[in-house]
Amino acid sequence: MLLLDSRGREYLTTLTLGKVFHTHLGQVPHEQIIGLEEASRLVTHAGRPFLVLRPTLAQYVMKMRRDSTIVYPKDVGAILVHGDIYPGATVIEAGAGSGALSLALLRAVGPTGRVITYELRDDMAQRTRRNIASLLGEPPNFTLKLQDIYQGIDEPGVDRIVLDLPEPWQVVPHAATALRQGGIFVGYVPTVLQMHHLAQTLTGDSRFELVDSFEIMHRGWHLAETSARPDHRMVAHTGFITTAVRCAPRPARAQPVTAAPEDAAADSGREAGAGADGGAGSGPEATEE
Ligand SMILES: C[S@@+](CC[C@H](N)C(=O)[O-])C[C@H]1O[C@@H](n2cnc3c(N)ncnc32)[C@H](O)[C@@H]1O
Repeated sequence: MLLLDSRGREYLTTLTLGKVFHTHLGQVPHEQIIGLEEASRLVTHAGRPFLVLRPTLAQYVMKMRRDSTIVYPKDVGAILVHGDIYPGATVIEAGAGSGALSLALLRAVGPTGRVITYELRDDMAQRTRRNIASLLGEPPNFTLKLQDIYQGIDEPGVDRIVLDLPEPWQVVPHAATALRQGGIFVGYVPTVLQMHHLAQTLTGDSRFELVDSFEIMHRGWHLAETSARPDHRMVAHTGFITTAVRCAPRPARAQPVTAAPEDAAADSGREAGAGADGGAGSGPEATEE
């Protein structure tokens, strides 16, 4: 459970009979918390109030023990949506790290989907197993393989491939073979050079189209009775997301299909793609008869 003090500080705790929750604000035996409805209130022996919440996935991954950098919740959301991770999908993931992304993928594919995660290091695999177990137990649709994904992908016909490792371009030829036609590749990397190399590798492979790279900015706001302003601090950079669609191979000499229509302004770095009104839905139109 997640205990929240009156200043909004979060304490993640696994409830166990006989244990006591200790803070500088006082103590509460776990027996007093077990069985409470979520979002209940309690007070410590020192009379300090706490809220008792079931942690959201975002709260859990930010509080769980980590042995690697993780994919932050703001990026997880974009990976799930732009990678179009859907209930029932079979997803290949690498690497496992601390399991933050694995948890989100498992939730998105649901009980009818599968997540198969490749991880090189045993210590990372153990950390992922523990972090998943304390939130979900042992999901039968999760497979963790201690295996180097740069050497290949064993599973054919998968729906999605999601990578968070240093050289995702090494996986591109394997991904092109393992993904079903129409399947989606997602790569997450921290530096511009990695993003560029990945996008170039995908564009240069005739089996991938709609290569698209972007990043997500999340700016929190401080809101009080007499103040409304952006927070002073923000996480300014995490990583870049690159997506591509596995398609029928491009005929020799055909141009790659880009993710958005380009115009003459695109290469000069000026904004492209907005209509005269600058509004949504100003892309090309199709008519049907
Ligand atoms: C940044 S961490 C992944 C974090 C994870 N996405 C999360 O949200 O917790 C990168 C992981 O990739 C693993 N890795 C690196 N190269 C790999 C490879 N060739 N095959 C499989 N895993 C690899 C590393 O051992 C490390 O655990």
